[in-house]
Amino acid sequence: MRFTVAIDGPAASGKGTIARALAARFGFAHLDTGLLYRATGLRAAEAGIDPAAAAASLREADLARPDLRGAEAAEAASRVAALPEVRDALLVFQRNFAAREGGAVLDGRDIGTVICPDAEVKIFVVASPEERARRRHAEFVAAGDPRTLAEVAEDLRIRDERDAGRAAAPLKPGAGARLLDTTEMSIDAAVAQAARWINEQLPEA
Ligand code: DC
Repeated sequence: MRFTVAIDGPAASGKGTIARALAARFGFAHLDTGLLYRATGLRAAEAGIDPAAAAASLREADLARPDLRGAEAAEAASRVAALPEVRDALLVFQRNFAAREGGAVLDGRDIGTVICPDAEVKIFVVASPEERARRRHAEFVAAGDPRTLAEVAEDLRIRDERDAGRAAAPLKPGAGARLLDTTEMSIDAAVAQAARWINEQLPEA
């Protein structure tokens, strides 16, 4: 069976957590597409090579680097993600992942619009900027990063603006996407809602 769940939304909206939980619940494969842009950004900066070349030569091992979750990788990702050549170089890998047997969940910014416009289920996850900053800040605190809440909020604001304002595949809901506002929702409640949407579309066993 092929079945694609496309999950898009801004940073710290909860989309990654929801995507992982859904993949586990339904036995689908999961791809956090932000990692592709993070790995591309870091590789290009370190190797001093063109970002498109870095994207085209990404290896499996690049996606397993522990520093991909950090603020430096996020910033580098957001910059290279604005380049159409980089997005093109990463497209086929993502489409192949989505088309695998057994179902796939992909989360990112353009999954429902560009990568998988025909996905069986599209979900656009949002949360208020204050709540997203609070969540991201809590993650940094847990990781021992001294960044303040105000700094985190400002980083998010700049990244949001760049992701939604760019010409190439800007962040926006795909046609027919369901809106999931997690501002005042527990993770369990958000996952349960998304799971209901998936169950509605799954073929009868
Ligand atoms: O989801 P994330 O924070 O890991 O994403 C890092 C950056 O990569 C983010 O600024 C936007 C970009 N990105 C994108 O443009 N398209 C995707 N499908 C995923 C991420």
